[in-house]
Amino acid sequence: MKDFTLHIPTKIIFGKDAIKKLGDQIKGNYNKVLLHYGGGSIKKSGLYNDVVRILKDNDCEIFELSGVEPNPKLGLVRKGVQMAKENEIDLILAVGGGSAIDSAKAIGIGALYDGDVWDFYSGKLEPEITIPVGVVLTLPATGSEASRGSVITNEDGLYKRSTGGDFMRPVFAIMDPTYTLTLPTKQTFAGIMDIMAHIFERYFTQTPHVNLTDSLCEGTLKTVIQNAYIIKEDSQNYDARAEIMFAGTIAHNGLLGVGREEDWSSHDIGHEISALYGTTHGETLSIIFPAWMKYVYKENVDRFVQFATKVFDVSEAEMDKDEIAIEGIKRLEGFISDIGLPKSFTEANLPTDKIDLMAEKATEDGPLGNFKKLYKDDVIKIYKLAK
Ligand code: NZQ
Ligand code: ZN
Repeated sequence: MKDFTLHIPTKIIFGKDAIKKLGDQIKGNYNKVLLHYGGGSIKKSGLYNDVVRILKDNDCEIFELSGVEPNPKLGLVRKGVQMAKENEIDLILAVGGGSAIDSAKAIGIGALYDGDVWDFYSGKLEPEITIPVGVVLTLPATGSEASRGSVITNEDGLYKRSTGGDFMRPVFAIMDPTYTLTLPTKQTFAGIMDIMAHIFERYFTQTPHVNLTDSLCEGTLKTVIQNAYIIKEDSQNYDARAEIMFAGTIAHNGLLGVGREEDWSSHDIGHEISALYGTTHGETLSIIFPAWMKYVYKENVDRFVQFATKVFDVSEAEMDKDEIAIEGIKRLEGFISDIGLPKSFTEANLPTDKIDLMAEKATEDGPLGNFKKLYKDDVIKIYKLAK
C-alpha cells in the first residue's frame, strides 16, 4: 500500500426530503447565489421552485444561469465566470447531474482568476482557489458531488479536458434518491456504468497489498450490479435508487483509490468519443472498458482472475487463469447488454473513421494510464477492438 492523504470535506445530506436542510447550509453563510442548472428537468420535477423558495426564505439574492448541456461547454462557463465576477457571487449552487456540477466548479475557479479559465483545463496552470460550490444532485453517476475534478469541453478544437484539486470538492451535496425516479432509462444505466467505471479505474492497479480497498471496490461493484437489476424491473424502487445514489459518491470521492496507483486511461479514451460526437459519458465507458480489459488483462492476469471470481462469481473449476479472466470480461459485457448500453461503436451507431484522430488527441500530452502505459498505437488498437 502506498502512503496517502485523504481529505473529503463535502457534507453529504442524504435521503427523502433532504432539500429541507438546504436552508441550514445557506443561512449566515451565503448571500449572493448563482443558481446553475441544465436544460429544464428541474423545472419539470418542481425542484427548481423548491430551491428558489428556500434561497429567498434565506434572504439570498439569486442570479441564474441555465442551459448547461451534457458534456458541458466552455462557452457557458465563460459566461458564468463573468456573471460571478460582476455580481460578487459567494456560492454557486449546481442543481442537476455531473454536467451542471462540473460547469459550476469551472465557474468557481474561473471567477477568482484574471486569465482565461481554460488555462486550468489545458494544463497551463493548476487551480488553487474557488468560490464555494454547493450541489443538489439529481443524477447518480459522476460522483462530482464530492469529487475533486471537473471536466469541460472546449468547442474550439473539441477538446474534453479535466482539472481538479481537493479544494474543488463541493461544500455540501443534497442527495434525495426520490429525484432520480424521473431519470430516463438511458441516463439511469449510463450513470450506473459510470459508477462502475470509477471503481474499475482504481481496482485495476499494479499496486500490491490493497486488500481493504479491494474489498470495498468489490462490495460496491456487487451492490451496484444487484440494484441495477432491481431498477431494471422496477424503475420506481426507492431503496435500489438510494443504493445506487450513495454508491455513486463512494465510487468517486477518493476513498476507493487510496494507497494505490489508479489508471484512468479508459476515461481519457472515452472522452475523445464524447468530444467528437457528444456521446453520453457512461456510454463511452460501456464501449471502451471491455475493449481495454481485453487489451491489458495479460499485464496482471491475477487481478482479472480476482475480478472475475469476486465480482462476477466465476468459478475457478476446470479453467486456467486466462480463461477465468476472459470469462469475467464476458460477464461484464453480458451485464452491459442487460442494462441496454452499447458495447461497441457499431452498437452505439457511431462512425469509426476518426479513430486515428481520436488516438492522436488522447495521447498528445503523453501516454495514458498506469495498469499498462498506452501510446497512440495502443489506443488505436483499443478503439479497433471496440469497433
Ligand atoms: O439538463 P437537464 O434538463 O437537467 O437534463 C439532464 C441531462 O439531459 C438529465 N437529468 C439529470 N437529472 C435528471 C435528468 N432528467 C430527468 N430526471 C432527473 N432527475 O440527464 C441528462 C444528463 O445529465 P448530465 O449532468 O450531463 O449527466 P452526468 O451526471 O452523467 O454528467 C456527465 C458529465 O460529467 C463528467 C462527464 O464527462 C460528463 O461531462 N464527469 C465528471 C466527473 C467529475 N467531475 O468528477 C467524473 C466523471 O468521470 C465524468 O467524466
Ligand atoms: Zn466517469
